[in-house]
Amino acid sequence: MSEKKNSLEHIAIIMDGNGRWAQKRNLPRAAGHKKGAEVVKEIAQEANKRGIKFLTLYAFSTENWNRPKDEVDTLMGLLRQYLKSDFSELQKNNIRIRVIGERNMLDKDIVAQIAKLENDTEQNTGMVLCLAISYGGRHEIVNAAKKIAALVKKGDMSESDVDIKLFSDMLYTQDMPDPDLLIRTSGEQRISNFLLWQVAYAELFFSSTLWPDFTAQELDEIIENFGSRERRYGKV
Ligand code: FPP
Repeated sequence: MSEKKNSLEHIAIIMDGNGRWAQKRNLPRAAGHKKGAEVVKEIAQEANKRGIKFLTLYAFSTENWNRPKDEVDTLMGLLRQYLKSDFSELQKNNIRIRVIGERNMLDKDIVAQIAKLENDTEQNTGMVLCLAISYGGRHEIVNAAKKIAALVKKGDMSESDVDIKLFSDMLYTQDMPDPDLLIRTSGEQRISNFLLWQVAYAELFFSSTLWPDFTAQELDEIIENFGSRERRYGKV
């Protein structure tokens, strides 16, 4: 009899360890981020090949703005490059791009490029690659609360309309299912303000691999492990 596997639609990843990867090689931290960006491309393609419907990657947090300016510039440069140059690759692989986060904090050209890429890949029917850029879970929840308060104040909604579904619909991830699996690399075991609302029932997986060393093979091992976990959602 074959074992029943958990269904896996949405994987979220906290890509941690770029700095340590570079430090171990006596390289500047920027080299770790650059290698990390290459791994993003590979893992996105491999996840898509495996039929994953949504892959959400934590590329830059609201707290990352507090890093030294040259490191912020490096990360923004890599994101800019990724958003500008990977269109044909995404089209070829039928991948749809989504970006979640505080767009008002990003440079105008990046905001414009995000809007273009989201629009140009909108019809793609393969995996949704959701990049969390300038993203903070608490900001997202506060923004949702503000939107609801404004609607109630205007009289478009009453307090009794507010429930879990409605609240979820006010988040950046409104039309996405919650992550089934959350992976964090580099051995740290924290959520770090990532998808706080959405990971309520996600299975957590902490890998000691530094993100630039992360491979499709390890992804497969984690998916295999996920398949054998018992998901109860609070039930017995
Ligand atoms: C954590 O490593 C990683 C980040 C803060 C950014 C993640 C960014 C990338 C993988 C590259 C750009 C992304 C795209 C989508 C092109 P860290 O710097 O905190 O590492 P450390 O904990 O070892 O110092």
